Amino acid sequence: MVEKGRMKKLVAVIHGPNLNFLGKREPDIYGIKTLKEINQDIQKKASDLNIEVITFQSNHEGEIVDFIQNGYDKYSGIVINPAGLTHYSIVLRDALVSVKLPVIEVHLSNIFDREEFRELSVITQIAVGQICGLGANGYLYALEEISEIISNNR
Ligand code: DQA
Repeated sequence: MVEKGRMKKLVAVIHGPNLNFLGKREPDIYGIKTLKEINQDIQKKASDLNIEVITFQSNHEGEIVDFIQNGYDKYSGIVINPAGLTHYSIVLRDALVSVKLPVIEVHLSNIFDREEFRELSVITQIAVGQICGLGANGYLYALEEISEIISNNR
């Protein structure tokens, strides 16, 4: 949905718990880029795609739910790395379903090539698709895809 007076479509990019620690956190798995650097790349991609992006990170499930609900009539789509919440948060899944927006799920690491408990995502079923294992570029590919979807090019 495009808010009155808003020229460009707005996409929310949400980073879940512990992603504020990127750069320091298990760099062999998650890479050396900080969240700040990743968000800068995201904003550059947004301007190339002529969309607006709002980024948000929280370590708290409820804050992420609030962020999703508060923007339900402003966002046109959501790109989310739910981090650890991926594997069990029905609360997050319900929030995403309730706003009826296209969702793309992103993971930096390949969640199918790690511990078995990471293979289950309670989010994928309600997402348009999932990108995993491509590092921080996954966010950029997700933005390309969501901008296609929200501009009704398909
Ligand atoms: C992650 C994978 C999750 O299993 C993990 O809990 C994270 C990050 C990823 O981006 O690879 O925090 O979502």
